[in-house]
Amino acid sequence: MDGSGSGGGELPSEQLTSRSDQVPRFRGRMRRSEVECRQDIDSFAPGLLALFESLKPSEEHKSRQKQLVDSLAKSVGKEWPSARMHLYGSCANSFGTTHSDVDVCLEMEIGTESTVDVLLKLSDVLRADNFDNVEAITGARVPIVRMTDPASGFSCDICINNLLAVANTKLLKDYAQLDQRLLQLAFLVKHWAKQRRVNETYRGTLSSYAYVLMCINFLQLREPKILPCLQAMEPTYTLTTDGTECAYFDKVDQLQDFGAENKDSIAELLWGFFQYWAYRHDYRHDVISIRMGKTLSKQEKNWTTRVGNDRHLVCIEDPFETGHDLGRVVDRQTIRILGEEFERAAAVLQYDDDPCVTLFEPYDYEN
Ligand code: GTP
Ligand code: MG
Repeated sequence: MDGSGSGGGELPSEQLTSRSDQVPRFRGRMRRSEVECRQDIDSFAPGLLALFESLKPSEEHKSRQKQLVDSLAKSVGKEWPSARMHLYGSCANSFGTTHSDVDVCLEMEIGTESTVDVLLKLSDVLRADNFDNVEAITGARVPIVRMTDPASGFSCDICINNLLAVANTKLLKDYAQLDQRLLQLAFLVKHWAKQRRVNETYRGTLSSYAYVLMCINFLQLREPKILPCLQAMEPTYTLTTDGTECAYFDKVDQLQDFGAENKDSIAELLWGFFQYWAYRHDYRHDVISIRMGKTLSKQEKNWTTRVGNDRHLVCIEDPFETGHDLGRVVDRQTIRILGEEFERAAAVLQYDDDPCVTLFEPYDYEN
């Protein structure tokens, strides 16, 4: 990561053996944050779009997901007949790839029982109904039951009454309908993150959800803008849950031409995304916020120092739970890894002869 960019500073300077060492570098005197993208960048758009198409879940994949949801509904309905089932996460927000899991939220009255007790009971019910690898993960920020569907092999996470996730799923889905370049960019970034092993929150890198928020904010900041800020407009959708109001303009069919003035190709945007996160984002001072459609200062969020496990090194504000930083999992070591991967990606797109392949080469911890 280059400390000479307009932001930076917080990130350590380049390491001798980093993940980005194998790629050519820009060696001129110009600041890396000011480098312009290669002249022939658009020639890589067809290859990137073909990859995007191949990552989209097939109709068969979707129908197997539906079968999973139907058999889960049967199991749940026996014990909790009035429970409502919501799909959330990437199986419902349009950002699901062939590799995505299925996320389900059960909305139910739990009376005096605790969420953990209900999840433990649910685990027993699912085991009895022959779902595989059923495990209650009760210590997480959002407690869940995780299991595998024996018919499809899909992994499924089930939570209780987490309607904030249902609301942010709808928000992301609405953004996805505004400009097809958001879906394309997010699929490619998610695929890159999985291949390069920087989509593992348990190891201190970022969730898929965080990457999608980064893509939305990037397109809100593009000139001319590709995406509007739906939460800054007159609300047409409101859901209040756990004392949090989720409100935004959801009549997205009225905004179809919003990004039309911007003609950037997916190749240029992908390069711009990595260039932004490698050299332009001010990690020391800024928080990205799709709620405001811009960056905010860490100071105004009071995210300047570590509080408990929230280190606030990379700051990504949740659109509704505004006290929740999706970057909280990143530590001093993983911010360096992320920086090296952003730098590698920007360099591959800038200099490599076959960036559509090199960019997504799997990272292997062994080598
Ligand atoms: P993939 O499954 O990787 O395709 O993406 P996903 O968007 O479904 O991500 P994931 O399964 O990690 O998360 C599921 C959903 O949980 C997200 O889409 C959000 O709606 C919600 N969510 C809310 N807060 C968080 C958080 O702190 N971390 C994660 N991972 N998800 C959150
Ligand atoms: Mg998911």
